[in-house]
Amino acid sequence: MNAELEHLKIEMERLSPWYHKIDLGPGLVTPGQAFDPIWEMIRKTRTAIDYDRKAVLDIASWDGMWAFEAEQLGAELVIASETAYKKIYNFLFCQRVLQSRVIPFYNISAYNLSERLDVCYSPFGGHGGGQFDGFDVVHHLGLMYHLSDPILSLLETRSVMKENGLLLLETAYGRGESSSMLFNGIDREHGRILSGRNNQAPRGKTRSMVLQCANLVGEAQAPVQQTQLRGLRLLDERPKTPSTREPPA
Ligand SMILES: C[S@@+](CC[C@H](N)C(=O)[O-])C[C@H]1O[C@@H](n2cnc3c(N)ncnc32)[C@H](O)[C@@H]1O
Repeated sequence: MNAELEHLKIEMERLSPWYHKIDLGPGLVTPGQAFDPIWEMIRKTRTAIDYDRKAVLDIASWDGMWAFEAEQLGAELVIASETAYKKIYNFLFCQRVLQSRVIPFYNISAYNLSERLDVCYSPFGGHGGGQFDGFDVVHHLGLMYHLSDPILSLLETRSVMKENGLLLLETAYGRGESSSMLFNGIDREHGRILSGRNNQAPRGKTRSMVLQCANLVGEAQAPVQQTQLRGLRLLDERPKTPSTREPPA
């Protein structure tokens, strides 16, 4: 193994734990979780989306796998947003190795995208030399089941999307009649910035896991339709092998 690769591997191990498996080139893949069946399902569904020269937002980017892949698929502008700001070090490591132009915003909650991403819009920002009028593609992956207010998150998502944009959404859901809160508590060690409605949620009260039922996931379309979001596709395809995202028995 050459010295540079050895050095990168040591650096990568120091950044553990990793969530994503990001291919960083010959002999170097970040040691992520065994969620390959879910990720393959997302990749298969994603083939319907044309990323060429598009503006893409990857919400809850974590180590950044979906953002880097969007860039590799031809996206011109990719923004990775995240609440767990300490994960920026993992993201920046990959960004450097991949020589990526993905832009990280690792201090943005899923509940205040419109307020924080205003920097993308005129007069501050722009895209392709023209007026920026929203993202063509937004990823909302592995996030909804963490949110106590998924509808607010979808409305915020819609607010930063272009008309006729595409939302790629993946979530776990329960098969029961109603949704249930699995846990919701203090989880400071991940170091998150989280803002609730009107930014009044206390910092540190950060972690929630909600088992949303299929009805709620379906009903999420209603407010989205009222606000004329186009292009929403709710996915209901199960991975072929069991995963840890199965609802508890
Ligand atoms: C299971 S990971 C999914 C990572 C990536 N989007 C994917 O699908 O591979 C969950 C993500 O949701 C984020 N998250 C968890 N709770 C959140 C909350 N209350 N508000 C916003 N993001 C949250 C985490 O920081 C993390 O990025």
